[in-house]
Amino acid sequence: MNITVIGTGYVGLVSGVCYAEIGNKVTCVDKDENKIKLLNRGGIPIYEPGLQELLMVNADAGKLTFTTDLESAVRSADLVIIAVGTPPLPSGEADLRYIEGAVREVASSIHGYTIVAVKSTVPVGTNDRVRQIIAEGTTQEFDVVSVPEFLREGSAVKDTLNPDRIVIGADNKRAADILVELHIPLTEEIVVTDIRSAEMIKYASNAFLATKISFINEIANICEKMGADVGEVAKGMGLDRRIGPAFLKAGIGYGGSCFPKDTKALIQIAGNVEYDFKLLKSVVEVNQTQRWGVIDKLYRALGSLSGRKIAIWGLAFKPGTDDVREAPAIEIIEKLIELGATPKVYDPVAMDNFRELMDHPSISWCLNEWDAVSGCDAVCLLTEWEEFCNIDLHKVEQLMARPVMVDGRNVFGAEQIKQTSIAYYPVGRPPINDKIEEIV
Ligand code: UDX
Repeated sequence: MNITVIGTGYVGLVSGVCYAEIGNKVTCVDKDENKIKLLNRGGIPIYEPGLQELLMVNADAGKLTFTTDLESAVRSADLVIIAVGTPPLPSGEADLRYIEGAVREVASSIHGYTIVAVKSTVPVGTNDRVRQIIAEGTTQEFDVVSVPEFLREGSAVKDTLNPDRIVIGADNKRAADILVELHIPLTEEIVVTDIRSAEMIKYASNAFLATKISFINEIANICEKMGADVGEVAKGMGLDRRIGPAFLKAGIGYGGSCFPKDTKALIQIAGNVEYDFKLLKSVVEVNQTQRWGVIDKLYRALGSLSGRKIAIWGLAFKPGTDDVREAPAIEIIEKLIELGATPKVYDPVAMDNFRELMDHPSISWCLNEWDAVSGCDAVCLLTEWEEFCNIDLHKVEQLMARPVMVDGRNVFGAEQIKQTSIAYYPVGRPPINDKIEEIV
């Protein structure tokens, strides 16, 4: 099948590469000339394990090309996939400007029967608008389908090639059958439904996962007050097949390009039809406050934070990515600066992206995890990169001015910590070597 993908962001690029990998001829289009030049040289604009290798193999095999020429790429396509961004407006609603712009251009370029599939996350009803825009711009035969994307950053290639399910929203059998055939090599779990339900499945899935995270974070906060261990609680809950173990890791809250945006958008979508989505509003609120647990624990361990050197391990919103969008690290570091502390930050891959976002003179940019903890009053582990999880804790404690660790991701076990003198503050588990009495 000849597939043209519009937009080479996370979703577009990974999908394009993976559709080529399963035997299609794919052209990826982007307006950004520099990005296209980079991709044509075999480079990738994002950090995503396995993507570059797959891109090069398929480009070399002639199955994958990159261009800024939307018109000719669309003209020769059987299927056009829209994967441009839907950033949030100040109201929380998705900004559909890029979708509408791309769809207008697509409409004037299609030639012969073409399926236009929307992969961008769009509010319920958007695909009707897409159909209307295309109808206004062409006399050619076309269908619009919704094919929401569920890939995760850091495991995007694996998720795309081995999805739990594929959702296809279509209003006629011809388009639905073509899309089913395209995805059969990936999975047999294909849900074919109406377009509005497909659009809703994407929001509802992300909102549900975000709810699981906020739920376990609140349980963690209660565990802290009661002396229980949220890790044990999550294990005990997760064995119930109706609950499942996934997304029950307590921490400092979710970040990234999807959960924060999509939860707020769904609240707004519900609001537009006069439905007050109370549960999801609380999920967002809990997530916002969860990060402040790190600051509370620093206070508990150190008293005043003014003049303190605080190491930050991890800036990305999760490991395996250089993405810092909505990362809890942003507000935590801002707060530390406001309180007069010096954050000494290190992330194995997200340093450049973070610096672009926040180049404050109080921040000390470190060369590695050791440089970050040297002479520090405390270290806060904010992203569970493997190199932090496997660290030599004795060396850490020797390098620090005060061995205090706030573990925002619960990566260390109690037994490991008890072999050191580190004052250790995890999330939803009892602290170890708590220094509070010493300071008071
Ligand atoms: C998410 C969805 O998983 C994916 O299906 C959708 O297409 C895009 O949004 P992503 O944002 O890449 O993917 O990351 P994910 O692995 O889902 O994690 C999101 C956030 O939740 C991270 O900040 C992570 O640290 C946090 N998280 C996740 C927890 O705090 N606890 C958990 O148990 C799981």
